[in-house]
Amino acid sequence: MYDKQQTLKVDREHIWHPYTQMKDYADRDPIVMVRGEGVRLYDADGRMYYDTVASWWCNVHGHGHPRLKQALQAQAEQLDHVLFAGITHPPAAETVDRLRTFLDPTLCRFFFSDNGATSTEIALKMAFQYWQNVGQTKKTRFVFLENSYHGDTAGAMSVGGIALYHELYAPLRFKSYQAASPQCSTCTHRKSAFTYDASDTGCALECFASMETVLRENYQEIAAVIAEPLMQGAAGISFYPPEYLRRLRALTQELGVLLILDEVATGFGRLGTFFAHTKAGVVPDFLCLSKGLSAGYLPLALTVMREEIYQAFYSDDAAGKTFFHGHTYTANALACSVAAENLKMLQENGWPESRVALMARFREKMRAFEELDCVGDIRHQGFAGAVDLVKSRSRGEAFPTETRIGYKTYLKSIQNNLLLRPLDNTIYWFLPLAVNEQELDEIFEKSMHVIRTVAAEQ
Ligand SMILES: Cc1ncc(COP(=O)(O)O)c(C=O)c1O
Repeated sequence: MYDKQQTLKVDREHIWHPYTQMKDYADRDPIVMVRGEGVRLYDADGRMYYDTVASWWCNVHGHGHPRLKQALQAQAEQLDHVLFAGITHPPAAETVDRLRTFLDPTLCRFFFSDNGATSTEIALKMAFQYWQNVGQTKKTRFVFLENSYHGDTAGAMSVGGIALYHELYAPLRFKSYQAASPQCSTCTHRKSAFTYDASDTGCALECFASMETVLRENYQEIAAVIAEPLMQGAAGISFYPPEYLRRLRALTQELGVLLILDEVATGFGRLGTFFAHTKAGVVPDFLCLSKGLSAGYLPLALTVMREEIYQAFYSDDAAGKTFFHGHTYTANALACSVAAENLKMLQENGWPESRVALMARFREKMRAFEELDCVGDIRHQGFAGAVDLVKSRSRGEAFPTETRIGYKTYLKSIQNNLLLRPLDNTIYWFLPLAVNEQELDEIFEKSMHVIRTVAAEQ
């Protein structure tokens, strides 16, 4: 295996990293990570980092879990990968069967792929083709929320609402309707000082008016609405009330519009229930899953849909009604074996619900930030929390963009055994469900130190 210097040499000369301004690394090296154990990661010099972002929101049981390694090894002995057209295999079937126990029975058809963006692309294409197949050919457009994120491929970007990521690509994006975001953290109708889980905002859900107008005026040409349920993740771990989702479901049903819920980030316990949509008591027509599906070990995704959708493609008309879509690594057997074991462990542990005490402790840790004047809003649900860094909350002053306060906080965090990757000026924790109380305490003790220090240096 390559040592640290060999790795860095190749990296510096040839590798281009995601979501990274490579010039930021002109005078410093990326971390060479070589080992993971539980919620801890170790670099080539043996330095430890808490995986405070769950390796981009996907790790569930911690790194190197013996049962997940065992499942992977056992599957590798049997079958690594095979095409999934006209062929099936036991780990795919077990994954689906275990997942069904967490889902409303009406969500009963499962289409595999290999990452979050593909899971949303598939839902969009299927929703589009569904209406073509049933003869309602004018229903070709989509509605998405401002500040939404559904992945970086062209289709997923077309329903993305984050200007920084999506505006430049406007000529490549298909025409869709954007509705105002239910972003409680920046909302002027909010009565509460801090958003927390957005269950007590004291507003009349004024934000829903925008969605209602878009849908009522255009429903005849709208195939589906796509949304991240209860949390717009890339928008800054921004929570919104379940009532928004209930109204959205009722209206889409009234107007004959499909509802796609993207639980790529919120699924598998992250917000304190197995899925976020169940908190609102709604059932979508499509559900998009990835990240925690395979516990953060291997690329895997699912698009789940109702029987009626599936039936609209089930036909003797092979040319006209078939869903011509697939990926080489669809339902990769190794990834499915880990997913099946992950779901089995979640079932056995009763996670996340059995971890209410830990989630309450997390909330207390978040409350401690109220005393810092450099913290604007504070948010928390389940295993996800975030704070917005500001120059002064009491004086209502934000940090200018050039300050790069989030990036500076990240640099300070890696000197303090944390990986606090920012979203602009927002610092967040997206913890593996396996974190224990002592680890949680240490993570927040260090986080408090990092945030205080960086703010004092400005
Ligand atoms: C809600 C949501 N949807 C889709 C995606 C895209 O997933 P992937 O990065 O696996 O393509 C993400 C990634 O963060 C996400 O948060």
